[in-house]
Amino acid sequence: MLAPWIAPSILSADFARLGAEVDAVVEAGADLIHFDVMDNHYVPNLTVGPVVCAALHRRGLTVPIDVHLMVSPVDRIVPEFAAAGATYISFHPEATQHIDRTIALIRDHGCRPGLVFNPATPLDYLDYTLEFLDLVLIMSVNPGFGGQRFIPTTLRKLAAARTRIDAAGREVRLEVDGGIKTDNIRAAARAGADTFVAGSAIFGSQDYARTVREMRAQIA
Ligand code: DX5
Ligand code: ZN
Repeated sequence: MLAPWIAPSILSADFARLGAEVDAVVEAGADLIHFDVMDNHYVPNLTVGPVVCAALHRRGLTVPIDVHLMVSPVDRIVPEFAAAGATYISFHPEATQHIDRTIALIRDHGCRPGLVFNPATPLDYLDYTLEFLDLVLIMSVNPGFGGQRFIPTTLRKLAAARTRIDAAGREVRLEVDGGIKTDNIRAAARAGADTFVAGSAIFGSQDYARTVREMRAQIA
């Protein structure tokens, strides 16, 4: 198992003070910054793009940026996020025409590809892709909004993804995204997740460092 990573989602940050908010969660012990990109087309919400990613990158972030693309089409925007300092770039298989091509495009631009599974999307998409991925992201809410309730069937999906990743014998992160709090992070870890996105649970708390610490204690 890889060392567990906590990935605060900027979706729940105060966007008027985004740089300071990101600095604060890094200071609080974040391992990764989860950057949610929504286009009001693939998902019914609109957030931020490569310009904002580049601005955070230029700030001199000491942790990698984990770009979660909830956009369609995908390919056009990949080079822009690579140039903007993304380390991981993940996308939804339903959002692109040619999944294998999009994975290769992300890799060719020097980033680590991830594939994202909505709650009702089968893991079959991993059959011919897992060997090319560095990250599998299991959505535990329907994509589009922060602050939603964790969908419990995600746990058996995480377990199934864990089995596949272990069988593949490659270093692939298993990330869970949506409704993760201090009181359910342990269940997600037990099911096999090693990378934990948390938006409202961290940015909605009074003390970011304490929340990150409590999450780590739960999964230790
Ligand atoms: C939802 C996003 C999540 C979201 C999670 O579409 O992908 O990353 O920010 O927020 P919480 O942790 O509040 O569910
Ligand atoms: Zn996300």
